[in-house]
Amino acid sequence: MSALGDLQLRWAADEDAPAVARLSKEIDPDMDETQAGLAELFLHSPAEARRTMYLARQGDRPVARVRFKSAGELAWAWGIGWLPALEEGHRGPGWAAQDGTPAPALAGLVRALEAQARGAGARRLTVELLDPQVPAFAAAGYRPSKRRVEMAAPLVRRPVACDRPLRPPRPGDPAEREALARLLYEGYLGSVDQDGETEEVARAETVHVLDGEYAPFLAECSMVIEGDGGPAPAGPALSGLAGAALVLREGRSLSWLAELVVHRGFRGRGYGRALVQAAMNSSLDHGYEQMGLVVTLGNMPAEGLYRRLGFREEGEVQHHYVKEIA
Ligand SMILES: CC(C)(COP(=O)(O)OP(=O)(O)OC[C@H]1O[C@@H](n2cnc3c(N)ncnc32)[C@H](O)[C@@H]1OP(=O)(O)O)[C@@H](O)C(=O)NCCC(=O)NCCS
Repeated sequence: MSALGDLQLRWAADEDAPAVARLSKEIDPDMDETQAGLAELFLHSPAEARRTMYLARQGDRPVARVRFKSAGELAWAWGIGWLPALEEGHRGPGWAAQDGTPAPALAGLVRALEAQARGAGARRLTVELLDPQVPAFAAAGYRPSKRRVEMAAPLVRRPVACDRPLRPPRPGDPAEREALARLLYEGYLGSVDQDGETEEVARAETVHVLDGEYAPFLAECSMVIEGDGGPAPAGPALSGLAGAALVLREGRSLSWLAELVVHRGFRGRGYGRALVQAAMNSSLDHGYEQMGLVVTLGNMPAEGLYRRLGFREEGEVQHHYVKEIA
């Protein structure tokens, strides 16, 4: 494989479904889905998944796939996968040469991704990587920011203790959407999960979740705790809700805790635990067997809470690396 000055990243349109499916099979030949099944899945995947799928091509041949999005000065890439052939040119184990030089094709992939991000007006690119993908990006000047891991728990019904009204959210009610957007923005501010997003970007994220653009939103399995409209017992003004757990449908038997936030002024009173347990009970009522989530390692309040409710790590650690690309 030659050095990849010629590697192009392009958004995957409907007609690229067969190419996406073929590439996914080539990257992971052991996956259960057939190629035709994968193409169907791609065509029917939620809006955000369709909007963010890009193929890297060498000439006409797709050689890598990347999920990419940008908002203002920030850009993100995740779900990265490439053909084993792209590793040609490395001299040691793993994807990079022993002296830390990545295979030329992988350096080309990193460059194509950065060109895409710059073209979108971004100044900072955050990439989510699996272990073996780290060297190619580290060699290109990316620095580690955080590590995240999936957790899952069998759904177990337990009593819920909460001294404020706890109920499913109303995603169709504009006032509630506004309250949720504010709660999530304010709740994540200053936390390990905040990557410098503007309020506008953070709000758009909440809308994506509520509108099912990542996966179908399960209002009936989600939960909010009402504030009383007055000031929070401590901290900044109350946004109208004291906390929320937003849940998606990830599979036939798997519900997914996409967001969990308790307003700063209400933390340490058991509301986080109540929200997750109530969401677990409700998921059970709706026929789900397991709940999954992703947590940032080192987020002690969240990690501790999840562990006590039976969540355990599953799968590989996702490494987040960042580079200023302006
Ligand atoms: C994580 C979060 C929702 C917890 O909410 P909370 O209402 O304070 O949680 P609870 O009061 O129910 O506490 C849950 C458990 O965590 C423990 N806990 C709370 N703060 C803690 C801390 N700083 N360190 C370690 N454990 C802590 C509590 O002791 C409690 O344990 P227990 O159930 O055995 O008594 C809240 O801190 C938050 O909104 N954080 C910012 C957003 C975020 O990180 N969300 C998670 C994304 S994965």
